[in-house]
Amino acid sequence: MLSFSSAMSFPVHRPRRLRRTPTMRRLVAETRPTVDGLILPLFVVPGAGVRQPVGTMPGVAQLSIDCLVEECREVRDLGIPAVILFGIPERKDAVGSSGYAADGIVQRAVHALKDALPDLLVITDVCLCEYTDHGQCGVVVGEEVDNDATLELLVAESVSHVRAGADMVAPSDMMDGRVGAIRAGLDGAGFGTTPIMAYAAKYASAFYGPFRDAAQSAPQFGDRRGYQMDPPNVREALREVALDIDEGADIVMVKPALPYLDVIREVRAQVQVPVAAYQVSGEFAMIKAAAAAGMLDEERAMLEAHTSIVRAGADIVLTYFAKDLARHFRGR
Ligand code: PBG
Repeated sequence: MLSFSSAMSFPVHRPRRLRRTPTMRRLVAETRPTVDGLILPLFVVPGAGVRQPVGTMPGVAQLSIDCLVEECREVRDLGIPAVILFGIPERKDAVGSSGYAADGIVQRAVHALKDALPDLLVITDVCLCEYTDHGQCGVVVGEEVDNDATLELLVAESVSHVRAGADMVAPSDMMDGRVGAIRAGLDGAGFGTTPIMAYAAKYASAFYGPFRDAAQSAPQFGDRRGYQMDPPNVREALREVALDIDEGADIVMVKPALPYLDVIREVRAQVQVPVAAYQVSGEFAMIKAAAAAGMLDEERAMLEAHTSIVRAGADIVLTYFAKDLARHFRGR
């Protein structure tokens, strides 16, 4: 640390000098979020012409493939580099077979998107909870999700997504060993160049509530605490991250974002791969609801929350605000 002890005092030092005008503040900003690190999550449903608003997420809708393509054209035009897709299938069963069917909803959506907008990166969320009738993220044996039996289904799902044209897969299930299994599966299918973004430190969070409405994926019994992480733990998050990188993860994610900024910071300090953070449905809904009630300014709250996530160390942010942020950055 440099020391200027003799001069550290007022009136020589006036930190307010650098805060006087918007241009001055712009010049000295330490954190400069841009559109480049944004990923917009989208929900795709069967049918045509469907834009079904999600009640708990104002401004977010489940989209049929035709509307999804329309939406993504706007996303691309705003300069957002990537979307991540979640599928709501026609049918659910105990083993989530619609999740790895060649003509599944996500597989068809990826096809259509890569056809229409080849430059937009299409990432797919890999999990079974949207496709199983019990809503758990894997194969259920008794009251538990069987880790190892789930792995082969996640591999099948990943390979089918990439076969459909996905640019990257993002496993969000939190089974042990899934990144390694998916890496081997993709390599074996000839997709050695397709990266994996691992939901590495994914916590069992109350903030996923609205998403489970949007994706119709709430567990029908129990909860996800047997596989998602326990909120008090940071060292365990670092271990999960290290394991995922060791197994071949190209990008690691912390999720949720705002209640886990310390984890983002710690992960950023310890790894060399890009770090993503997911500002989840509940974080989004909280700002929307407070703004709708006149309790805070939506635009400013959105920006401040986003800046904090980037400041903590996230290189990439998955957020339902991606279009609003992109518009803000463009207009600035
Ligand atoms: C699937 C999955 C979830 C989210 C992303 N992938 C839900 C969950 O684990 O319950 C949450 C995203 C959000 O809340 O915005 N497993």
